[in-house]
Amino acid sequence: MSQPENLSPVIDEQAPAAGTASYGHVVDEKLDTSHGTILYLDDVTVTFDGFRALNKLTLNIAVGELRCIIGPNGAGKTTVMDVITGKTRPDSGTAYFGQTLDLTRLSEHQIARAGIGRKFQRPTVFENHSVFENLEMAMKTDKRVFPTLFARLNGEMRERIDATLRLVRLEAAVERSAGLLSHGQKQWLEIGMLLIQEPQLLLLDEPVAGMTDAETDRTAELLNELRGKHSLVVVEHDMDFVSDIAQDGMVTVLHEGSVLAEGPMAKVQSDARVIEVYLGR
Ligand SMILES: Nc1ncnc2c1ncn2[C@@H]1O[C@H](COP(=O)(O)OP(=O)(O)OP(=O)(O)O)[C@@H](O)[C@H]1O
Ligand SMILES: [Mg+2]
Repeated sequence: MSQPENLSPVIDEQAPAAGTASYGHVVDEKLDTSHGTILYLDDVTVTFDGFRALNKLTLNIAVGELRCIIGPNGAGKTTVMDVITGKTRPDSGTAYFGQTLDLTRLSEHQIARAGIGRKFQRPTVFENHSVFENLEMAMKTDKRVFPTLFARLNGEMRERIDATLRLVRLEAAVERSAGLLSHGQKQWLEIGMLLIQEPQLLLLDEPVAGMTDAETDRTAELLNELRGKHSLVVVEHDMDFVSDIAQDGMVTVLHEGSVLAEGPMAKVQSDARVIEVYLGR
């Protein structure tokens, strides 16, 4: 199997020569959320061969917020995540992580290191390793706490794994090979692998696609537990799930690369334009 994208080997960038502006220097700058906002996208446009996937998009996420993004297929939801994680460069516009980290100037790797975790739709876990080992490997990619891959686990590290196992409801499966987990459990394991790296901002693209109803409900519970402790952006088409996790928070509706509506779930659900382009289908 392929290696999970979030677990690419972490190699420190070369230290910059004095006086040169370099990515390696910028990424060591501390995340500054003193204004209460963790993500600022403004006037972001992305085109693919002349087609505008994002069209002057503006999106601000507060520290500790759980923001849901909904909208029809092709609206640009995944492209937003691609811009935030550095996979796609905007043609124009600004994208900042906190006050100071310019996402358009950092590599994907540097953005991950700066504290943005991303869950893709397909689960990417190490199938031939146990649940415990998957979490252990994920934690060891966090160079703030684990200087080498071969360092022994100490008590604090074990406690961090145990806490994550409880959070993602996989305590009973700790010794199981990840390849034997259900689809939902694999998704939870991958969420755990991201959380154990303590991201400042976590992006989840269609986390409950393919899950059973029971798994979807448990995922909503899990995300509700993360509310306030992490900043989260969740893209989903399952509107019952979105209602469960949005609660009183803001929901952003994308359409043709722009924000069509933004507000509490009840308000966007009754918006005539949202019903026309998405919910009424
Ligand atoms: N790398 C690419 N090259 C060309 N076109 C692209 C690329 N990535 C996205 N697009 C196009 O940009 C538009 C937005 O795609 P995006 O994947 O962001 O939509 P989405 O809102 O995530 O849709 P879905 O709900 O189906 O996942 C689509 O028309 C898509 O075909
Ligand atoms: Mg998508």
